[in-house]
Amino acid sequence: MATGPTASRAQLNVSRSRWLGRVRSSLRRLSPLVVLVILAACGTTEQPLNSLDPLGPIAERIDGLFWLVFWIATAIFFVVQGGLLFSVIFFRDRKGRTEEPKQTHGNVKLEILWTAIPTLILAGIAVPTFQAVFELADCPSDALTVEVIGHQWWFEYRYPDFDVTSANVMVIPTGTEVCAEMTSDDVLHNFWVPKLNGKRYLVPGQQTELRLRADEPGEFWGHCAEFCGLSHAKMRARVEALVPSDFDAWVVNQQTPQEVLADDSLAAQGQQVFLNGACTGCHNLNGVNDINVDELGVYGPDLTHFATRNVFAGASLPAGLNPTDADWEAELRLWLSDPPTVKPGSFMGDQNLTAEDIDAVIAYLRTLD
Ligand code: CUA
Repeated sequence: MATGPTASRAQLNVSRSRWLGRVRSSLRRLSPLVVLVILAACGTTEQPLNSLDPLGPIAERIDGLFWLVFWIATAIFFVVQGGLLFSVIFFRDRKGRTEEPKQTHGNVKLEILWTAIPTLILAGIAVPTFQAVFELADCPSDALTVEVIGHQWWFEYRYPDFDVTSANVMVIPTGTEVCAEMTSDDVLHNFWVPKLNGKRYLVPGQQTELRLRADEPGEFWGHCAEFCGLSHAKMRARVEALVPSDFDAWVVNQQTPQEVLADDSLAAQGQQVFLNGACTGCHNLNGVNDINVDELGVYGPDLTHFATRNVFAGASLPAGLNPTDADWEAELRLWLSDPPTVKPGSFMGDQNLTAEDIDAVIAYLRTLD
């Protein structure tokens, strides 16, 4: 029986090979999972929240900074890992090696060098970083102001220059700097439309600013980026950029009060459901009920020209990337039949509308274009 150092070395070898075997088999088991996770990031479908796909000058500025830092960090990674691998391979303990490699503890020149190089790199990165931070911090004075108010769980958009209030979809003109003046009506929220800018908090009782600019018309998706309660995951944001002439037409349309329907159409019945039910206590409709939501503690989205928005329920519905008209109606029906099942915790409770009521309300909402 082996005794002394020979025995312990043999035991060590056995436990080491066992450990290596276990690591190898876990890696084998994990590798398909890892590949799957990596592949999930490169799906061929649209990626509406991809922050590496900037579509406006502000987002491009941030993106440029990201790639600058990324490539510097990549170069550092390869230099450091290369040095490490070189040391591991060339200075390893091997057959025929009789003496230890030269030790460099306490080499003042080296210590100074590898303190100075990172310091210089960090200082170099700090210059464009601070430039960008200060450049993007304040809205220019000629920017178009859109007030963004966060609610559990939807974004409200007010245009003080035009006396227009909307929700869920922020419509902006292309080629124009937009200043989002943001606050919250309840808890912390965070407005994030990654293709147009980074994210910024909406703080109750305070005002924060976020610059947005899109140069091409299009729809930009966003999301509340701060956990804000039960339906945080359903608090989405949408920005729609229109060429200036379309934007002007949008403003004129939004400013037009809705007509009061006085016939016996299905839509007119829907209007009655709206006016006779609890809807009118939380939702303003210019020209129809004209309530002042600022006098209410909690209120719902302004429904004036509701049909010009392609999303509702905190922009979480319709859920698909490219919803059709039929999806819009089907999901609106789902939403109206019991809001809290769609958006847990929704302040709009189940209104106990009958199927006929819902048909009528949908017909009415369709007229609000
Ligand atoms: Cu609002 Cu999360």
